[in-house]
Amino acid sequence: MNEPHLLKQTLRAVMAGQQRAAADPHRPLWHLAPPVGLMNDPNGFIQFNQRYHLCYQWNPLACAHGAKFWGHWSSADLVNWQHEPLALAPVEEYESHGCYSGSAVDDHGVLTLVYTGNVKFEQGRTAWQCLARLNPQGEFDKLGPVLALPAGYTGHVRDPKVWRHQESWWMVLGAQDSDLQGKVLLLQSPDLQSWTLKGEIAGSGLGGLGAFGYMWECPDLFRLADQDILVVCPQGLAAESYRYLNTFQSGYFSGELDYDAGHYHHGEFHELDHGFEFYAPQTTASDEGRRLLIGWMGVPDQEEFYQPTIDHGWIHTMTCPRELSWQAGKLFQQPARELRQLRSCARTFNGEAASLPELDIASAEIDFAVNGEFSASFAGILQLHCDRLGLTLTRSNRRSGETEHRYWRGTVTHLQILCDSSSVEIFINHGEAVMSARYFPGSQPQLRLQGHSMLALHHWSLKRCVI
Ligand code: FRU
Repeated sequence: MNEPHLLKQTLRAVMAGQQRAAADPHRPLWHLAPPVGLMNDPNGFIQFNQRYHLCYQWNPLACAHGAKFWGHWSSADLVNWQHEPLALAPVEEYESHGCYSGSAVDDHGVLTLVYTGNVKFEQGRTAWQCLARLNPQGEFDKLGPVLALPAGYTGHVRDPKVWRHQESWWMVLGAQDSDLQGKVLLLQSPDLQSWTLKGEIAGSGLGGLGAFGYMWECPDLFRLADQDILVVCPQGLAAESYRYLNTFQSGYFSGELDYDAGHYHHGEFHELDHGFEFYAPQTTASDEGRRLLIGWMGVPDQEEFYQPTIDHGWIHTMTCPRELSWQAGKLFQQPARELRQLRSCARTFNGEAASLPELDIASAEIDFAVNGEFSASFAGILQLHCDRLGLTLTRSNRRSGETEHRYWRGTVTHLQILCDSSSVEIFINHGEAVMSARYFPGSQPQLRLQGHSMLALHHWSLKRCVI
């Protein structure tokens, strides 16, 4: 589509719809959500010149997937975000069906985006890995494709995550090989322009994995403590009793990457989040060396869970920003410490779970040690049960009415629960695991606890900071 027409259409959609979206009672008070339309993956997450930038996959024209744009926010503190002008619109031939996911790097002082130009034909598709660079006027100039489809893969090659290591640029790419197996490719470049394929570093049928999905999306590779962590989203894993229960999974491997040999020696796949909504996370290193992660609080093709925000012209949110650490052989996630700025009206409640008053959870944080069985009902529509097996989160599917469960198995000693107007994120044992879920309560939602456990609970209201 021609550029001025598409940009005008987008502007019109935002101007016509943003007030209605902002007035939605389910609009988050402190999580990021699109001004209008559909948002999915976080893209281009970086701290650049002391400011965080977070772009996102965006269809401003409908609450449905389609040709994707890159929306763009920036923030000094990961808490207060400002919406920036559109970063990328799919106007060129090499991105005719979407500026798909990708990442951002600081290339000698220039903020540079590396993303996938997605092109669909009547039969099949292709993908180009492309560059765009921020100009002094604050717009991204497209440099066009720097990498075509490598031989031996289908048109599903996408989501470049690029980083610097020992005088080279490195890229991981999600891919599907011609036998329809999901893979992660490693590439090297001296200048971001010319790329050499080092090989497949992980995938279905590799590294001790049997068949493990037909496509791997959104890889991210980084060093944390003494581990090389590969975060990735394999598609096509069969559901098991207690895991892989969402339509698609998002998880990580840990191990050692041999850059020269293009070989990654890794352990098992672990899911990153055990709730109903989590996918396509992206990480970045902050200036002071923290590894931060933001995920999409949604899952592709999980549309049977109807989200009423569509009636207000928008759909999906991001997770809160999370800090990663490596502890006792596991990847821990904790809410970014900056989020403490949102706390107000601290209160404490002590007593047997069932005797505690209902707690306001419209926008709140609740923190407590756990020493026995209890249940918690979020506005009567999302239930959390804690026993010696672990946690079970239960929600009824809004379309079919069927009850669905998600599980975390292990000993629960502590919970930190972050609630916004239509989401909860449950951090277990100071970040050993997380369960994230959207839910759509009425006004003034309350948490009701049940059980005989004695609890000492800290409760804060969380201040509004995005509109
Ligand atoms: C993951 C994903 C990516 C792709 C993008 C398109 O949710 O399918 O693989 O780049 O979304 O919006």
